[in-house]
Amino acid sequence: MASARPTDTSAVPYQGPPLFGVPADLVHLNVLDIDNTDERLWIPQTKDVWFRPLLFNVSQGYFVNLLRVRKSGILSRHRHAGPVHAMTLRGRWHYLEHPWWAEEGSYAFEPPGDIHTLEVPKGVKEMITLFHVTGAYIYVDPLGTPVAVEDVFSKIQLARDHFEMVGLGADFVNQFIR
Ligand SMILES: [Fe+2]
Repeated sequence: MASARPTDTSAVPYQGPPLFGVPADLVHLNVLDIDNTDERLWIPQTKDVWFRPLLFNVSQGYFVNLLRVRKSGILSRHRHAGPVHAMTLRGRWHYLEHPWWAEEGSYAFEPPGDIHTLEVPKGVKEMITLFHVTGAYIYVDPLGTPVAVEDVFSKIQLARDHFEMVGLGADFVNQFIR
């Protein structure tokens, strides 16, 4: 009879055929060794704002990336079309609409539908946060009217253009796509 608990703890790898249609896994080493990252992996987004892709998931519509900000002030006001997970690695930031602060080492969940305005406070020289973003950023004006949209596909396009420009080639982006 099948047990509800895993009982076979022998160090024997799976012997059967791979399941058809399973995408390749994806591993990046030393992601937290931030200061030794190849600078070409940081894709400029706006002035003093970059992102480093870890995963572009085109079949579920999400992306995982490190956001690096080297300025203080308002970054954007946006609405989320899906959930966001944020792990702050350096610096601190907050949303004008919420009382909490994202501090180094903290985790935050941003629910779909939340509309908020991201600020990096004065005195923070560098903010780096790992964001897992499903759906889209819908950039809005103060009354919530959409003005721009960003999603995994616009991120891929930015990455392709950047990797081409720095000499890695547009197809360099393919390794991040699943
Ligand atoms: Fe957000």
